[in-house]
Amino acid sequence: MSEATDLVRSRRLGWSLDQPFYVDPLYFQLDLDHVFRAGWLFAGHTCQIKEPGEYFCYDIADDSLIIIRGNDRKVRALFNVCRHRGSLICKVPKGHVKRLVCPYHQWTYDTDGSLLRNTWMPADFVNDEFNLKQAHVKTVAGLIFISLAGVAPAFAPEENLKGLLEPHGLESAKVAYSETYDIAANWKLVIENQRECYHCPAKHKGYAKIQFDTEVDNSDEQSQIQARWNESREKWASMGLDISLADYRYAMKGSWWRAVRTPFRAGFVSETVNGQPVAPLMGKFTDPDAGNARANTYPNFWLHGSSDHMHTMRVTPIDEKTTRIQADWLVSETAKEGVDYSVEQLIAFSKRVNEEDHEIAEDQAKGVMSSRYQPGPYSPIKEELVEHFVAWYIEQMGQISP
Ligand code: FES
Ligand code: FE
Repeated sequence: MSEATDLVRSRRLGWSLDQPFYVDPLYFQLDLDHVFRAGWLFAGHTCQIKEPGEYFCYDIADDSLIIIRGNDRKVRALFNVCRHRGSLICKVPKGHVKRLVCPYHQWTYDTDGSLLRNTWMPADFVNDEFNLKQAHVKTVAGLIFISLAGVAPAFAPEENLKGLLEPHGLESAKVAYSETYDIAANWKLVIENQRECYHCPAKHKGYAKIQFDTEVDNSDEQSQIQARWNESREKWASMGLDISLADYRYAMKGSWWRAVRTPFRAGFVSETVNGQPVAPLMGKFTDPDAGNARANTYPNFWLHGSSDHMHTMRVTPIDEKTTRIQADWLVSETAKEGVDYSVEQLIAFSKRVNEEDHEIAEDQAKGVMSSRYQPGPYSPIKEELVEHFVAWYIEQMGQISP
């Protein structure tokens, strides 16, 4: 533990982390305790549980949560652990229940977690004292966040996420396709890679065609980018979008989230293979040229949204060398597969980018395990957001006791 405290204190600003942070099981436990059980985690979408009794499970480290909409329509995160002798209650990862029945001795809970029925317990047994435990829940613009902390920190991104995402209508969307990836890399390598586009020109040729993140350092390119930003801000203002978020550097300092709207290159309006919509417009959009909504919250979430579809990524650490990513693609709930969209077209662009990124993260993880790995310097221009994430992480780890 004191080695971890020393490494946290001696971390060199602007450089990648020392090896144990990426490979050591002891440090992984610290990550779980001080990062994943301390802040807010993205769990899923409200549209996955539209009706009372609909639920999905989210497993993180040794905890399993049942994210369920109660009969009162409220979304809760119930710990999937029976108050009798601790059995797992829900074994099916998603579904629809009237009540939650423990498979062991059939104690039965309501959708709000309250214990409704037991058998063979004494007459003076008080059911109310044995309700399921709950994690904190915050729903914002169709996204469900949970906190496993005893006292949850303030959910600071609320206003920004609402401003950015409400126009996309995620409450009235559906998950059209999901994919789960297990990546052989520490979760921080996955997030660090997501926070920069230094690698994009070489690794993501398709992405580079439609996005500006891959800008090159010449004045022609700079003036084209400036013109596109100006034209887009004007257009988005007329569409009623919050243009205070149309700023690449928005909400960077000291924050654990980012919510921005960025333009595509001229002629492209959606994050798809040909830059054109592949599904009906979502939410309040009547013009597809709404740019790219991008949000992320540390430690486990990011999204990219176009006017016709939304792509979200949930990152869950499995162990110090494995990270599970759940990728979801959402479209309007009224869109019909095979008529209004095809899954193949919907996912083609992002699936490819995801696979390219996963290969990168695994290659890096292998190198980071080497006896000759040592921290290296971030580019102050191209890896500014990587430093932003790592500095935030180090701040969380600063809470560990020596
Ligand atoms: Fe659940 Fe006994 S452990 S009813
Ligand atoms: Fe990438």
